[in-house]
Amino acid sequence: MAMSIRVGFLGAGFIANVHASLLHSCAGVSWAGVYDTDPSRAEALAAKTGATVCASEDEVLSGCDAVFICTWTSEHPRLVEMAAERGVAIFCEKPLATDLAGAVQMAETVRRAAVVNQVGLVLRFSPAFCWLRELIADPASGRVMSVMFRDDQYIPLQGMYKSTWRGDVARAGAGTLLEHSIHDIDIIESLVGPIRTVSGVSAEFHGIAGIEDAVNLSLSFANGAVGSLLSVWHDILERESSRHVEVMCENLWCSIETDDWWGPVRWQRTGEDPGRLEGGELGDKVWKAGLAPVNPDEGFFDAIRRGRTAGPDFDTALRAHVVVEAAYRSAAQGGVPVTVPAPEAQVVGA
Ligand SMILES: NC(=O)c1ccc[n+]([C@@H]2O[C@H](COP(=O)([O-])OP(=O)(O)OC[C@H]3O[C@@H](n4cnc5c(N)ncnc54)[C@H](O)[C@@H]3O)[C@@H](O)[C@H]2O)c1
Repeated sequence: MAMSIRVGFLGAGFIANVHASLLHSCAGVSWAGVYDTDPSRAEALAAKTGATVCASEDEVLSGCDAVFICTWTSEHPRLVEMAAERGVAIFCEKPLATDLAGAVQMAETVRRAAVVNQVGLVLRFSPAFCWLRELIADPASGRVMSVMFRDDQYIPLQGMYKSTWRGDVARAGAGTLLEHSIHDIDIIESLVGPIRTVSGVSAEFHGIAGIEDAVNLSLSFANGAVGSLLSVWHDILERESSRHVEVMCENLWCSIETDDWWGPVRWQRTGEDPGRLEGGELGDKVWKAGLAPVNPDEGFFDAIRRGRTAGPDFDTALRAHVVVEAAYRSAAQGGVPVTVPAPEAQVVGA
């Protein structure tokens, strides 16, 4: 029988608890150590899971086969380096680093160490986005013409996130575009194709230096499509994090409304009745078609068993960092269009 994969945790906050809940339904894994610089958080996660509280990062890494790096962003590069040195498989939360140079270095580190690696770009497993991708990829839809993407959530210094580090540019790197909408950049490219130019403007309504809370990007794609991404951190605690997406193709309109996981996804294709899928019906359709696993973390463990990275991996995340960095460069110059290096060139402009 295959040995169970011993899983360690560095960081035991919000997202570590999300992964811990998902791990409960993964077969062939066992809890190893957990370390958090705030011991009460490590103890709480250990009590919930059966993991062992460790006294250091090193102790966690010496006793596991795979590690979830769930600390604030500025700690990711150092911890990835430590894990890679020990040959441990790495799941690192997004964004990889506080800047592009850090992300480049991290992608190089896991490549050199040849360890299985994955990044928390979890929208790749969303039934709603998987179904949207199917609709767009159908040749009957024609070419993609445009995408309109709005992402809003309350600034995560409060509410269920209640983090302080997201208001500290040294630990977070930047605001809503890097910290949150790096998800959106990744999923937009996976739906439409590579972004060729970006023009961005941003604002800091909360007055926190370096932490932008309203960003608008105007996008052009290598395939000729055009688009926009609006990302906002507001203060409406009663409003859940929400994404609204509309894609127009030559013969298809499709949208995700309200919930970026369960939809509804609605669409209209030339000469057909309108379509609509939501909730469990949407999930069943996507899972039965093999478009995504039911449990987003399952693929990481499958990849470890096969000894081959499946994705979204560090190179996928690096690409999103390249686009985000170009967007910030544009915003710093008042919105002048900036050319994004083609994916083949990847780190050009770093
Ligand atoms: N994939 C997603 O959808 C998603 C969602 C939320 C957060 N995230 C990402 O996950 C990371 C953590 O976010 P969070 O919301 O869980 O933050 P959090 O503040 O809830 O938890 C971070 C924890 O890391 C601990 N920590 C800091 N340095 C450490 C170190 N060197 N060793 C061990 N522990 C350390 C802190 O004490 C804290 O408990 C961030 O990079 C964030 O962007 C991803």
